[in-house]
Amino acid sequence: MPVISFISPKGGVGKTTAATLMATQLARKAKVIVIDADPNRPILAWSQLADCPANISIVSDANQENILDKIEEAAAEAPFVVVDCEGTASLTVAYAIGASDLVVVPTQGSQLDAKQAAKALSLIKNTERQSRRPIPHAVLLTRTNPVIKPRTLSAIHEQLHSHGIKLFNTQLHERESFKAMFSFGGTLETLDPKQVANIDKAIANARDFVSEAIELLKEGQNLQQEVA
Ligand SMILES: Nc1ncnc2c1ncn2[C@@H]1O[C@H](COP(=O)(O)OP(=O)(O)O)[C@@H](O)[C@H]1O
Ligand SMILES: [Mg+2]
Repeated sequence: MPVISFISPKGGVGKTTAATLMATQLARKAKVIVIDADPNRPILAWSQLADCPANISIVSDANQENILDKIEEAAAEAPFVVVDCEGTASLTVAYAIGASDLVVVPTQGSQLDAKQAAKALSLIKNTERQSRRPIPHAVLLTRTNPVIKPRTLSAIHEQLHSHGIKLFNTQLHERESFKAMFSFGGTLETLDPKQVANIDKAIANARDFVSEAIELLKEGQNLQQEVA
């Protein structure tokens, strides 16, 4: 049922990586439909590299005209729907936001990236106004260093907090395993420890992120009930 979208007008911030981690971790226990709404179809390409988990199906013909139908159909069919959007502010992205139960805005820890994230947040705010419902959303810091916390990152943290914007406590760290998943296909769990180091840390990182997203979905559901 719940629809989780990954959006940001900037390419290369980690949307596809985060969306694939979300889908593969959820798929350990439930069926997941991934709507690969990026015209480059990066998640479809990942799924064709190796055995894609049986619980994951990929919809790869989504476009501006049909995305709402595709999301609705998927939500009726699977317990989880993950939508990976392209890195532009298109109508497809706006539709995906409007149909989501949780919007994740991945961003890297620089001021410039934070500005792009702000654009995504204003798109979400406008969609909330238009649809007259709150759309749960949160910023996800990606590609951060697990040991060093640069000042710019702390500043971004504070700025977001002061604007009342939710930030995932979990950051997706810069990890070789997250890249390797796209080189070899499969999941973090099927990576070969002889070829990739620190897979266990990457798995723990991905699972923390997914648990937090589930909590946000639950909060969002409670909010909907209060509004109704
Ligand atoms: N947490 C991460 N650790 C290591 N590499 C990452 C991470 N997130 C993204 N990358 C790499 O950065 C590049 C862009 O990531 P991607 O997820 O495709 O971004 P987007 O979908 O926003 O364009 C890819 O090469 C990907 O492997
Ligand atoms: Mg992408």
